[in-house]
Amino acid sequence: MKTTIIYSTRYGFTEEVAVKLKEKIQDQVTLISVDDASSADIDNVDYIIFGCPVYAGKLRNNMIDFMNQNKVKLADKKVGMYVSSLNEFKTASYLEQSLSKGLINQLSAYVYSGYSIDFDKVKLVERLAVKTMMNKEDEVYMLNEEALDKLIDKMKINLEN
Ligand SMILES: Cc1cc2nc3c(=O)[nH]c(=O)nc-3n(C[C@H](O)[C@H](O)[C@H](O)COP(=O)(O)O)c2cc1C
Repeated sequence: MKTTIIYSTRYGFTEEVAVKLKEKIQDQVTLISVDDASSADIDNVDYIIFGCPVYAGKLRNNMIDFMNQNKVKLADKKVGMYVSSLNEFKTASYLEQSLSKGLINQLSAYVYSGYSIDFDKVKLVERLAVKTMMNKEDEVYMLNEEALDKLIDKMKINLEN
């Protein structure tokens, strides 16, 4: 069985999650940045997993555009998603802000994958906004491995090989 993971990332965390997810999946996995992906990349695959971070309350536009452009093809695929953000409890609402109901319903599972913040890389003007989103005791890095296992289970990926 073939899986393709298509990720969007600004600072690299969501790509790192894709690599971790690949390690957990038995059988053939292709990793591809959404910027390099075309609709041919989702032909002839059994599972597609989208990975995307949240910026300013929604998924990145390159991911939203790709998913919208390929809505019809995705309808007969098994599709999952993981979302990187600072706020696990807003995952559903971030998806609702970004994707149509139809696309959300096409996801057989979605999970919260954690976050990374490197304040040296974040633009000065954005730092304060990010700091106000974090609690004082928050770490600057949290990869939610359990959620990745859950995603694989829910999509039944390793069972069907
Ligand atoms: C400028 C900026 C804006 C962000 N906006 C949000 C947001 O609205 N909600 C949220 O939960 N996380 C927000 N985040 C946190 C990112 O989603 C998180 O750092 C994520 O891990 C980034 O992934 P990436 O390294 O793959 O780009 C923001 C981060 C930055 C730097």
